Amino acid sequence: MGKKNRQTAPGEERMQKVVSLCKRRGYVFQSSEIYGGLNSCWDYGPLGVELKNNIKRNWWKEMVHSREDVVGLDSSVLMHPDIWQASGHVDGFTDPMVDCKKCRRRFRDDDFEGDSCPVCGGEMTEPRQFNLMFKTFMGPLEDQASVVFLRPETAQGIYVNFLNVQTSSRKKVPFGIAQIGKAFRNEITPGNFIFRMREFEQMEMQYFIKPDTGPEWLEYWMERRMAWYVAQGVRADRLHFHEHGPDDLAHYARAAFDIEYDFPFGRKELEGIHDRTDFDLSRHQEHSGKKLTYIDPAANERFIPHIVETSAGVDRSLLTILVDAYEEEELEKDTRVVLHLSPKLAPIKAAIFPLVKRDGMPEIAKGIKDDLTGRGMPVFYDEGGAVGRRYRRQDEAGTPFGITVDSDTLTDQTVTVRDRDSMEQERVAIDALHGYLLERIERWTPAG
Ligand code: GAP
Repeated sequence: MGKKNRQTAPGEERMQKVVSLCKRRGYVFQSSEIYGGLNSCWDYGPLGVELKNNIKRNWWKEMVHSREDVVGLDSSVLMHPDIWQASGHVDGFTDPMVDCKKCRRRFRDDDFEGDSCPVCGGEMTEPRQFNLMFKTFMGPLEDQASVVFLRPETAQGIYVNFLNVQTSSRKKVPFGIAQIGKAFRNEITPGNFIFRMREFEQMEMQYFIKPDTGPEWLEYWMERRMAWYVAQGVRADRLHFHEHGPDDLAHYARAAFDIEYDFPFGRKELEGIHDRTDFDLSRHQEHSGKKLTYIDPAANERFIPHIVETSAGVDRSLLTILVDAYEEEELEKDTRVVLHLSPKLAPIKAAIFPLVKRDGMPEIAKGIKDDLTGRGMPVFYDEGGAVGRRYRRQDEAGTPFGITVDSDTLTDQTVTVRDRDSMEQERVAIDALHGYLLERIERWTPAG
């Protein structure tokens, strides 16, 4: 083969390359770009929205559809403001901030070193607590009684629906409720592209259990969640567990582990898995005045269920998957940029090219495209430019297969199928193509 070796650009440069590929190929754009952008908000382009949907679909399949003991929920972003009092977010969801008295710039106290403003040298205020929840008003009056918050996590929507879901689905403890949805945090130091955003999406599952079974369920879910990332094609040696010590343990948790990934900007949290004890349902029982207990039918015991939570970010998963898949390969004559996405996640499964725009090749290629699309496979037709360049565009987009209609096709009804990762080519009969692609998508494993 023409491949010489594989190399990856280090740290920041590598991150910049991923960001520019995202814009060039239509994965992620800056929000409100033509107005100069809106800090830490991002939009997903034609390929980005497909990848994001595929990630969410794979998570839902794993966490809900393939299990008897987990059901789904879609609760609203706006909820009763007392919920955030009960959860501890009104009082506790804060970061200490310092302000410059001269230029009025604000910094997170943790990120700040020295006594004076790093921008203008002005004097700084004492640290003050800054709440990360976005506030708005419900109804026509903008007064204290109309304040509502944009949810900073999807979890609370699950806790307050615990009884609704449990009684309507007739689930017995242990069982889980899963939800995917938007969350909003007025982050002070957002950044690193879509790593820390002010508007983002979470995939959370709250597993309701008998008191004091937390440690065993925590271990179970840690293993399942780690395996999920590996199944999405993320390299196992770049994934790690980090246990929270007494200093960084959240107020609601008895034990907590993060799944971390080696991003180009350092090892950072990708997902949190927490043993939350009975904190959540006890607090909502206390603040709402409604009993949130469960009666175990076998033992005839009444208790407030404990909770083990798995809390992942959709955007952070997408960033991990893109960064992990990005590679620059040095070939004999040039280099190519390729996204080694798992075919199950790839936005486009195959690109179809007529070798030239004559001799009926475009018609045959379009027929193949229509046939595969009709069977529910997202594919892409491209007849523009040299076929080598068309392959490279698809390598960058992460499309796993390139199908070329050439002069042999006219006589033997076969096409060339090029593998994105190995660049090897095989001839496949047109009428066997759909089954062939499905089988290749199913049995794909990362090149290592
Ligand atoms: N219910 C628990 C909870 O929300 P968290 O550790 O604050 O826990 C869970 O958040 C996950 O949500 C994180 O691991 C991350 O993937 C994602 N996340 C949190 N804040 C984010 C932000 N500002 N931008 C993007 N993703 C974020």
